[in-house]
Parts: sequence; C-alpha cells; structure tokens
Amino acid sequence: MERFHHLLPLLPLLLLTTLPTTFSEIRFSEIRSDDRPIIPFDQFGFTHNGILELNVSKISLSNSNLDLSKVGFFLCTLDSWLHVLQQLEDGEIRCALQSDLVKSVFTFSSLNGKESFNTLYNETDSDQYNLVFANCHPQQLKVSMDVNSAMYNLDGKSHVRDYLSAGRTILPRVYFVFSLVYFTLAAVWISVLYKKRLTAFRIHYFMLAVIILKAINLLCEAEDKSYIKRTGSAHGWDILFYMFSFLKGISLFTLIVLIGTGWSFLKPFLQDKEKKVLMIVIPLQIVANIAQVVIDESGPYGHDWVTWKQIFLLVDVVCCCAVLFPIVWSIKNLREAARTDGKAAVNLMKLTLFRHYYIVVIFYIYFTRVVVYALETITSYRYSWTSVVAAELATLAFYVFTGYKFKPEAHNPYFVIDDEEEEAAAEALKLEDEFEL
Ligand SMILES: *[C@@H]1O[C@H](CO)[C@@H](O)[C@H](O)[C@H]1NC(C)=O
Ligand SMILES: *[C@@H]1O[C@H](CO)[C@@H](O)[C@H](O)[C@H]1NC(C)=O
Repeated sequence: MERFHHLLPLLPLLLLTTLPTTFSEIRFSEIRSDDRPIIPFDQFGFTHNGILELNVSKISLSNSNLDLSKVGFFLCTLDSWLHVLQQLEDGEIRCALQSDLVKSVFTFSSLNGKESFNTLYNETDSDQYNLVFANCHPQQLKVSMDVNSAMYNLDGKSHVRDYLSAGRTILPRVYFVFSLVYFTLAAVWISVLYKKRLTAFRIHYFMLAVIILKAINLLCEAEDKSYIKRTGSAHGWDILFYMFSFLKGISLFTLIVLIGTGWSFLKPFLQDKEKKVLMIVIPLQIVANIAQVVIDESGPYGHDWVTWKQIFLLVDVVCCCAVLFPIVWSIKNLREAARTDGKAAVNLMKLTLFRHYYIVVIFYIYFTRVVVYALETITSYRYSWTSVVAAELATLAFYVFTGYKFKPEAHNPYFVIDDEEEEAAAEALKLEDEFEL
C-alpha cells in the first residue's frame, strides 16, 4: 500500500489518457508553486514528421540543490505509460524520466541556472503522445513556470505545418461535405414547401430554419477546424461556430419537442406541460453550450475540464430524456382518441407515425451519444475522424427521416380516408388492444 500510494496522483492522468479527444492547438499554461509529481499538458497524434515546440519561461524552483535531471518534460504514449507505471511499481526505476520507454524532451539539469528555455523536438515515430511534466522530488520541490507548447505535423512534401492531430486532419473536408449536403437538403425542402404551400404548416417553415442552421453550423465548423489546422489557434471562427452550434442545438431540440406534441399539424396550441418541457430544455441547452465551449477551448488537461465534461453529459442526458415525454403523451392521447371518436383509421395512422418517430428519436440519441462514444474509444487515433462521420451520418438520417415522414402532403392522408380503410383500421386497433391485455 505504501509503495502504491505515490502512484495515486497518477491515476487521473491514466483516466484522462484513455479519453479519446485529441487536441492540437498552441497551448499556454501557467504553473504556480506546484508539487504534483506528474503534470499532463497536451495530447497529439504525430505522423512520421511530427514536431513539438516547447517554450518555457519564468521558471522558478523552490529548491535548487536537488538532482534536476529528475525534473523535466517528456513525451509518452499511453501503452508505454502503462509499462512505466509497472516499472515504478516494481522499483526498477525511481523516476518516470529514467525509463527508456519515455522520450525525454528537456530535463531541468540542462537549465544551468537560466529562467527559460526554448526547444524543438522532432518526433519521427508516428503515434499518439502525451506531453507530460515529471517532478520526481514532489515532497521537496515546488515548481513555477509558464509553458507554451505547440505540436504539429509537417506535411510530406511541402513541409506545411498541420496543427490538427493525425486522424483529425481531414475533418475540415468532412464537415464541408456535410454542410453541402445540408444546403442541398434545404434547397429540396424549399421546393417541397413551394409546391405544397397550401398544405404547409408553420412547423414546416421551422424545419427549414433548422436545416439551414445545421448547414451553416457545419460550414463554420469546417472553417474553424481548417483555421486551426493552418495556424494552431481558433480565434475568429470559433465564435461564429459556437453561436451557430447554440442556435442549432436549441432549434433542433425545440423541433423534436414540437413535432412530438403534434404542434401545428395536429393542434394549434401547446399544453402547459408541453411548454414546461421547452422551458426545461432551452435553458439546459444554454448550459450545455457553455460547457462545450469550455471543454473545447481548454483541452483535456485544462483546469476543471473533467467537471465541465460531466456537466455537459448530465445536461445532455436530461435534455434527451425530456424531449421524449411529449412524444409519449401524444401516443397516449392518440390511443385514447382512437378508441373513442370513431375515426380509427386516421388515428391509427397518426399513432403509427408517432411510434416510428419515438423509435427513431431514441435510436438517434442512442447512436449519437453511446455508439459514437464507443467508436471514439475503440478506434485508433489515426481513424478518429470515423466517429465524426458516423455521428454526422446518423444525424443526417434523422433529419431525412423527420422531413420525409412529416412533409406537407398535397392530399392529406390524415383526413381523406374511405370506409374500407376505416374498417381495416378499427380491426387493427382492436387486435392491438387484445395483445396489450
Ligand atoms: C527537426 O526538424 C526541423 C524541420 O524539419 C529541422 O530544421 C531540424 O534541424 C530538426 N532538428 C533535429 C534536432 O533533428
Ligand atoms: C517558441 O519560441 C520561438 C522563438 O522565440 C517562436 O518562434 C515560437 O513561435 C515559440 N513557440 C511557441 C509555441 O510559443
């Protein structure tokens, strides 16, 4: 236990390195009187042409009579890190910097009393690395310093810097292609609205707004990522991107709630409990978006990153559950109406539609939250773009399904139904009731 005790502070690092997010930008961190044995800074997937730029200034050590070769920066993959922990545990080494499994970038013994250093480290083994600071005199030494770090890959021939981690470098193109798809969908939807303008409801115009917001959001994300790729910083485009993410998030959840309640095509007004769902979901979306901004901007080792990640997950789960209630209420109402008002066929059709919608919303939520997360976790850093593509494809399928099923109809099937269909539907409902009993 005694031996294991000094490894405990390393656990958060272990947990964090198993998280899939790979950030990339130029980062700045201030460390003040810190005695942590391990301070993780950033994570990056290098190709064969990777470079780490590390500029550290304002270094001050609380005690300079120690062996400073045991204080410094190193790069380490997650796999090697597990072995290093084992070596420390077995007593083979006494400091992570002594292991031949880590790539030492700079130890403070080369500092020679100076207060700052700039170093360039070439990484030619492609892999995903963590930049970590080790202080092997944690009880005796407190460190203060300002750390500027940048990690990037040089593009094969042209030697242009690419600040996006290997595996994420094609993301700008992915987002751009998806934004084109949504702009096309918006055009298709406009032509549908024009042709069926007599039977289009307000909700159909709202759907158009949602598609356009999604398209603009993807376009901003493409530009944001491509700006980071070129410069290593996100400034400018990220604000537009967050703004449209926010609008898109709110409008999508509102749309799911409104369709779920049947607003505008089943009834003109919202009930109180349905309004309450919106009043819960909209403020929560604001919180979720703030959390998302903090998460993205601070990187996986940033201050309070874990807390914000948890807030985001919690809020997201609550929103996802809340939007299901109106659909369930609608299904219940339709079932009751089908039994009482004699228009069985009409109601059965609506009922089927709402049941399908319920299943598809659940599938969409499950896929974009759980399956995508699992994909992110199991795929190699080289293919981390695949989870983005999977999430965007699922979202696209959801938009297309919603648009197709709830499109404005020239002859409205809800209201024009002949007697034969009516009888068949009444039979079907009766059968269904028997099954449920
Ligand atoms: C690292 O790569 C850069 C750019 O290719 C080159 O200028 C520099 O000499 C290399 N440094 C070392 C130590 O290999
Ligand atoms: C590090 O310092 C060099 C030289 O001053 C500078 O060109 C480079 O941009 C700096 N890098 C970072 C990440 O701050």
